[in-house]
Amino acid sequence: MDLFDKCFEFTDAKEAIASGLYPYFHELQTGQDTEVTMSNKKNVLMVGSNNYLGLTNDPRVKKAAIEATEKYGSGCSGSRFLNGTLDLHVTLERELARFMQKESSLLFSAGFLANLGIISAIASRGDYILCDRANHASIYDGCRLSFAKMFKYEHNDMVALEKLLQKLGSDTAKLIITDGVFSMEGDLANLPEIVRLAKKYKARILVDDAHGIGVLGKNGRGTAEYFGLEDEVDMIMGTFSKSFASLGGFLVASEPICHYIQHVSRPLIFTASMTPASTGAALKALEIIEQEAERRHHLIKIAESFRNGLKEQGFTIKEGITPIIPVLVGDMNNTFLACKLLFDNGVYVNPVVSPAVPPDATMIRTSLTATHTEDQIDHAIEVFTKVGREMKLIPA
Ligand SMILES: Cc1ncc(COP(=O)(O)O)c(C=O)c1O
Repeated sequence: MDLFDKCFEFTDAKEAIASGLYPYFHELQTGQDTEVTMSNKKNVLMVGSNNYLGLTNDPRVKKAAIEATEKYGSGCSGSRFLNGTLDLHVTLERELARFMQKESSLLFSAGFLANLGIISAIASRGDYILCDRANHASIYDGCRLSFAKMFKYEHNDMVALEKLLQKLGSDTAKLIITDGVFSMEGDLANLPEIVRLAKKYKARILVDDAHGIGVLGKNGRGTAEYFGLEDEVDMIMGTFSKSFASLGGFLVASEPICHYIQHVSRPLIFTASMTPASTGAALKALEIIEQEAERRHHLIKIAESFRNGLKEQGFTIKEGITPIIPVLVGDMNNTFLACKLLFDNGVYVNPVVSPAVPPDATMIRTSLTATHTEDQIDHAIEVFTKVGREMKLIPA
């Protein structure tokens, strides 16, 4: 028995490469935009990016990243805890707290690290975590790091959540964690009911709003704003890798919570801080999110057109309002084949297969960008229809 046996015996990906259906690690020869060059194929319509507001190529955001690099250099060479805190980090924290209308904010070097760092710091041995089954992997890894006891409830099943809360009683320390917008299917957490149950059973709430902030709510503050429940959600986590067109993650919460996490969170203390470029870009993106509401309005509008267009052609899609629009295929090989045929026809989308979803619920995850034009959306529907008919996913 050798440690590396599992590597030598791992053939799945190589078989997929040999079959020509391997859908991962495509190389981009351009930046993220609505049209990209990918695997040396030009003018590929990008319908699978989390660049929701289309800011990754915005000249103002790029300029802010360059200016921050010129002023502060290419890296911070240390943790926030010691030599790695820039005044720019502190400005971004202050601006985020103001924007999200919470007392305080805390930056992490990635969204993934934010979940690891928040959950492992705030939940300890003897505490309980209640997790929606469809929560992001970083939440589960945060739970593992925390030593708290974690229970999963079925996706958005509020009866199941209440049963768990009842079992634990009011006298235990409990944290309910949910994605605000679920990353694969694009549906929303039932936040009104989660808030009601949290109050009834004295639990705290953490919402991972990686896909909601910038997109949902009158002011772009995300799922809690969309439901009018911002004051009821104790902690909101976000990322800069999607609407904010950068890299990094954050928490907004009350001052004592952020202050505590800042001083005990290992994924915050023992890693280098966000680069000047990422911080400058995120700060500029925040300014644009606040000033240009028309971006999210257009995004929600084209998401509706895309949903309706696909439905009219006979595709089975998940209902919703967000720019994440999953198209059900229901079989892994067909999902890979559909992605390949779409790509051959100039449209990039993401396959979602087991274990991210059950094997019979595999799907094509599409996600739109605010800078997509109506014509690009119509073109994507045409290509989907051509491929869908060819594969008999929809009627001829
Ligand atoms: C719901 C959710 N939370 C957290 C993350 C991690 O964020 P990041 O990519 O910034 O590390 C992601 C990224 O895919 C996500 O979808």
